[in-house]
Parts: sequence; C-alpha cells; structure tokens
Amino acid sequence: MSLDLMAERSAEWFAKCFGHPPRWMVAAPGRVNLIGEHTDYNDGFVLPMAIERYMVIAADRNTNKHVTLHSVTTGDTANFSLRPKIERGDPVWSNYIRGVIAGFQERGERIGGFNAVIDSTLPYGGGLASSAALEVATATLLETIGGHALDPVEKALLCQQAEHDFGGVPCGLMDQFTSVLAQGNHALLLDCRSRVATPVRMTDPRISILIINTHLRHKLSDGEYARRRAECEHAARVLKVDALRDATLGALKRAQRMLEPTVFRRARHVITENERTLQAADAIQAGKWERVGDLMYASHASLRNDYEVSCRELDAVVEIARGISQEDGMLGCRMTGAGFGGCAVSLVNSEAVRHITRKLEDAYEQQIGNSLTIFSSRPAAGTRVLR
Ligand code: GLA
Repeated sequence: MSLDLMAERSAEWFAKCFGHPPRWMVAAPGRVNLIGEHTDYNDGFVLPMAIERYMVIAADRNTNKHVTLHSVTTGDTANFSLRPKIERGDPVWSNYIRGVIAGFQERGERIGGFNAVIDSTLPYGGGLASSAALEVATATLLETIGGHALDPVEKALLCQQAEHDFGGVPCGLMDQFTSVLAQGNHALLLDCRSRVATPVRMTDPRISILIINTHLRHKLSDGEYARRRAECEHAARVLKVDALRDATLGALKRAQRMLEPTVFRRARHVITENERTLQAADAIQAGKWERVGDLMYASHASLRNDYEVSCRELDAVVEIARGISQEDGMLGCRMTGAGFGGCAVSLVNSEAVRHITRKLEDAYEQQIGNSLTIFSSRPAAGTRVLR
C-alpha cells in the first residue's frame, strides 16, 4: 500500500473514531539493515536503509489532558493521562508512544491532550523496526503539534531512550536514527560512535532488495538481546577498550584465555562484522554486488555461529538462497535486525526477482511447513509530516 493510500485510510479511521478529520498526519518508515548487525551498541558501523513501509499517525488536539490512541492494526485503544507522570501501561504498543511523550516532557516541552489513530504497514515484531518507527512518528507528531523541531540526532536519541525505558530493550541507535535521517535512494553507513552517517547510493536498477518475512515473532525484551550487549561490554573491559569498535582480531586472540569461549565468539562477531560493514559500503559504491552478497552470507554465518541470534527458520531461508547461484541472480542473503525470528534480507538481480521469490517460497514451505511473505523495497526517506 502506498503512503498516500495509507494517509487516506488513516484519515478515514480518525474521522470514524473521533467524528471529524485529523488536523495532523505524520509518517515514519521502518528499516532493513543490509549489514552491520549487533554492532551499533558497540560503537561500530551499520548499513541500514529505510523501507517503504510506515507507521502513520493521524491526530488532533483534545481538551481533556488525556491521550487517546486507537490502533488500526490491533483494533484496541489506549487512554492515559499526561499528568502527573506518564507510566508504562497497556496495551503494550502504547508504551512506545508513552515513552516518547515522557521524553518530550523531560525536555520541558508542554504536551497537551490529543487523540490519534495509528496505522501501520510494518509487521509488528518482524525485525523491521516497527517500534522505532512508532517512536519516531510520535516524536514527529509532537514536534508538529508544538511547532518546534528537535535536532534530528537528538530526536533519534530521545526515541532510543523511550525504547530503553518504556520498551524494555537496551537497543542501539540504528533503528531510530534510520527512521529519522534516512534519505531516499540511499542506504546509510552510520558510524554509531560519532553518529555521522554517510549516504551510500543505491539506485542501480539491476539490483533489488528483497525482504523475507518468516512471520516468526521475535521478542527482544526477554533478555537475550540484553545478555548479548552485556557480553560485549564485558569483552571490551577485558580487552581494555572503550567499546568493541576499538578492538582488533589480533588483540582478541591474544586475550582469548581470559575470556569465556562464548564471550570470545561474541566479540569475534562484532569485530569481524564491523570490517564486513565497511567493506560492503565500499563494494556498493564500486558496484561490486557479488562481493556485497558474499559479505552478507559471511555476516549470517557469524550471527548464527558466533553471536547465536539466528534460528532454524532464518537459517533455512539463507540455506535456500545459497542454493541459488549468483549467476542465477541470488547475490546474497542474511538475517536482518536483532534475530531470533523476524526477517531476512537479500540482494538479487532485478530480472530474477519473480523466479527467486517463487523458489524461496516453495522450498521454505517444503522444509518448514509455513509460508514466507516476500516483498521488495527501494530505499525510502525518513520521517515526514503529511499534513
Ligand atoms: C535491534 C536494535 C538495534 C540493533 C539491532 C541489531 O534492531 O534495536 O539497535 O542493535 O537489533 O543489529
């Protein structure tokens, strides 16, 4: 569904729920990460692009100092007071919005009551940063209502904090940063330490990005994500560096006997993934797509073996992809996002999209007994005000 159509649908829902047209409408995209996984909270490099899948919020002020939210996707409603202090609450998705409002209040912004309808074409819990998109859309809405824009990086940081405090996941900055700062037709090579992003052009018509959804919902708040992060921080302390971004493979090997085997492997993933990410950005710029594909496969192997965040379903997708040669148009494939389910991303020759999609669907159905949803996306721009 196009963003225009979504906007129309959200406006209709708003009118149905609240009896008049919305005054404001905003959108924020999800993202797919091409490479650079679990590197962001290690001050490393990531290479995501925003996708043409969005959270849209239609809203208007109300007069009762309450926020009333209706989700088109889930059909449920949240209602909470803005005073004295915003707390976590139900439904679960409302926490991303609560968290962002709390962040604005902490900055001293006065937030009045409002009604809103939330619509989405992003699968929830699908590894495409639906929660970040909801946070960023909320922040864009609050900026619009207040008539005062935040610095974009601060806005991404505020949204990341909302995810930490209200979503319960100690995530890095990649998802929120991408949803705020993405540029159409470009992936972003983001240095998560300096927070400087270099746009990497992705307009070669011969190349398509396929997003492959296993429909396996991941739940990051169950502790695996936080455990990985803690393991990385532990490794950095042993290696006496600020973050694993600063470690080398040589130093890691020299310190091997001081590290638990699991922690050693976690660190090895991060160090090698940072290298792969920088190499992939160079390869894209040079149009060396087969090289990018090889790096994606290597990234997946490292996430599966060293970082242990893949799962049977994602491994099946990548193995099926591997069975299709680069000559036949499948250039590379890997899990994307935090892992434990969600989506894979693949790089394919545009003319082979149809045939590859069919192959992946059939083989997966045969092996796993479930169906995949596959779609392609061009790199989208970041959050914007629609009305
Ligand atoms: C989630 C987090 C990101 C990042 C990825 C893994 O999407 O929100 O910050 O850590 O996992 O690369």
